[in-house]
Amino acid sequence: MPTALPGDRPHVIVIGGGGTGGAVAHDLALRGLRVTVLERGEVTSGTTGRHHGLLHSGGRYAVSDTESAVECITENRILRRIAPGSFELNDGLFVALTDEDMDYLPRFVEGCEACDIPAAVLSPAEALRVAPGLSPAIKAAVRVPDGTMDAMRLPLRFFASAQRNGAVVRTYTSVVGLRRENGAVTGVQVRDDVSGEESELAADLVVNATGPWAQRVADMAGVQVPVRCSPGVLVAVRMRPCEMVINRLHPSGDGDIVLPQRELSVIGTSSWVVDDPDELHLPADHVRTMIEQGSRLVPAVADAEIRAAWSAVRPLIGDAGSQTGRELSRTFKCFDHAERDGVEGFVTISGGKATTLRAMAEATADVVCRKLGVDEPCRTRDTVLAPHTAYVAERGAQEAARRTTPSHMTAPAPRRTAGREPARTCARPTSAAGDGVDTSNLPLTTRRLAVSRWKPGWPEPVPVEYEVIVEPGTTVLDALRAVRWHDDPTLTLRHSCCHSSCGTCGLRVNGAEVLGCVTGLDDLPDGVVKVEPIANAPVLSDLVVDMTELYTRLDGIGRPLVRASEHVPADGARGAEDRAMRLEDCVECGLCVSACPITGTDPDYLGPAALGAAWRVVAEPRGLDAISVLDGVDDHQGCWRCHLSFACSEVCPTGADPAGGIMALRGALTRRHLGLGHRGGRDGAGRSRTDDREAATR
Ligand SMILES: Cc1cc2nc3c(=O)[nH]c(=O)nc-3n(C[C@H](O)[C@H](O)[C@H](O)COP(=O)(O)OP(=O)(O)OC[C@H]3O[C@@H](n4cnc5c(N)ncnc54)[C@H](O)[C@@H]3O)c2cc1C
Ligand code: SF4
Ligand code: FES
Repeated sequence: MPTALPGDRPHVIVIGGGGTGGAVAHDLALRGLRVTVLERGEVTSGTTGRHHGLLHSGGRYAVSDTESAVECITENRILRRIAPGSFELNDGLFVALTDEDMDYLPRFVEGCEACDIPAAVLSPAEALRVAPGLSPAIKAAVRVPDGTMDAMRLPLRFFASAQRNGAVVRTYTSVVGLRRENGAVTGVQVRDDVSGEESELAADLVVNATGPWAQRVADMAGVQVPVRCSPGVLVAVRMRPCEMVINRLHPSGDGDIVLPQRELSVIGTSSWVVDDPDELHLPADHVRTMIEQGSRLVPAVADAEIRAAWSAVRPLIGDAGSQTGRELSRTFKCFDHAERDGVEGFVTISGGKATTLRAMAEATADVVCRKLGVDEPCRTRDTVLAPHTAYVAERGAQEAARRTTPSHMTAPAPRRTAGREPARTCARPTSAAGDGVDTSNLPLTTRRLAVSRWKPGWPEPVPVEYEVIVEPGTTVLDALRAVRWHDDPTLTLRHSCCHSSCGTCGLRVNGAEVLGCVTGLDDLPDGVVKVEPIANAPVLSDLVVDMTELYTRLDGIGRPLVRASEHVPADGARGAEDRAMRLEDCVECGLCVSACPITGTDPDYLGPAALGAAWRVVAEPRGLDAISVLDGVDDHQGCWRCHLSFACSEVCPTGADPAGGIMALRGALTRRHLGLGHRGGRDGAGRSRTDDREAATR
């Protein structure tokens, strides 16, 4: 039976918890509608979390795809206003390396002018001054307002804001069918992958915001959407030789963007087309191309340590004739299936960019409201978004309820076999389009994983063994995803970025705290690999823990998101910036909390992540009340509770060094108690840290 929801406001179900689904939910909730988002994994676990992280100025599309270029620059300006702190305001350079690139320059500048994209031509000397890591072979550059965005945390702010306006976000909930009455779509059939329960949910209208999976959901309504799935490969290297976003000044091609992201630089991307967005191959020659082309722009990339390589699938608007995806526009389209196909109650939004998620949502919400007779304007252009931490913190009650409702599922048999396909495929595409990968010459092996499974109501976790076909480079996360897609869709796990930037894939592997996305199976000893959820947080389902407590504590500290590039003075000369002061280094993974022996025995201890964050506020308050933060940690459950095991800093995947922060807090407090001053450095913007610290410790 369909679930009847109270209230007389129209109820809209949004299928898909990517950036588009989050922005649609926010817009509709602001207009007063009741909204439920259904996402089969954690939100942003599709394309959204894994994209390049470029806040487009539109420059990339200014010559050949002006519709997208105008959308990008318009939304770039709006996003900076409504999501302060989610971007590095580092600007981008389009760099000419060859005579052909120089021939392209006038067209590029004209295109930018026509699309209202600020573009300043720089000489090689000027470009090298603002981006010293660039190739000295550069012939010219054009500076545009590109930026780096946090691919996961920006959309989380849309989800957080939607929740504050009453939207319900249901994760690990797969839509397996559509409810139909007289041909119209009147709701969805869902499988809750935590409880195992299958049910129906009624709605006045259903929005299909499943990105590359749009056709699969459209099939449930018997309609077609012209969406092409176009994957691209991305490679993250462990260094930041350039603080700005670097693009090649030429028509879009492979490996022509190098973008600083946290402690990494991300190089991308390639483009081909596939039919199944879940078969995400990683062609080895694409990885090589990223490094080769990236190092033409930024030479240091050639010898840098590769942190991760992964693929993501673009949902592009286009027909089946497309060969590479490059020829398709990056614009978006909203399809009203009543007008198009005679199916009432069903709307699809697809295409676009992460940069244009808000505009996509506005267009969709306009269609939804028109269909439902709701006369409310869009307010998202001027509504500043809630912080990303509020997404998790505000879901606490929902998570707790889900954890205590007994699951219908029984423990799986102790041993099953997974992985009909290799868990991760690095191979040369067999066709020009790359659709189909020849795995015959790969050194495939089989690994066994003992995965801790637990569902609410089970007396204790059950280790279940899976066999997965792997190849060199397969990560623990790849293997777990292969189990989920090929064997058991109810195996729940968290992941988003695939390159150690989001912090969601924290696990205990063979007893050690690690990020699954950068832990290669090759690097683990032979034999069964034991995979468990992180400790010191309540398990919600299988490998998913409830992070509410961690986020509530981080939210309590109120740390600002200060980006390294904001410290770069206009003349490009690096200041005395202390790398450890970069507040973005903590990815909120909870590994330190899991490894901390004190947190294990005393849940009231503030814990290493929050204390590390507290130190960063004290060290560099940026307008926050550092004195209150210092007062808050001067307590036997605060920084004095730590027993100096240093386990937290040992497992920290980013070098955020929470133990160092705890020691520094103790030092600051000791000086305050003794009435002493405090010596500090000078940040890259030339501001004395001593001033802030002394103010805080006075
Ligand atoms: C390689 C690459 C690089 C890119 N770089 C950039 C960039 O730098 N800047 C930029 O602006 N854009 C970039 N993009 C584009 C951008 O990433 C996408 O346009 C955007 O993320 C799409 O978001 P979405 O919400 O539409 O889709 P998704 O994020 O894929 O969301 C769809 C969601 O639907 C869920 N879902 C599917 N089926 C079901 C079901 N049956 N039930 C429940 N849930 C379901 C999926 O799990 C998924 O989470 C890039 C794309 C790629 C591929
Ligand atoms: S301090 Fe390190 S280990 Fe702890 S949450 Fe932050 S990134 Fe993770
Ligand atoms: S998936 Fe983002 S850190 Fe692993």
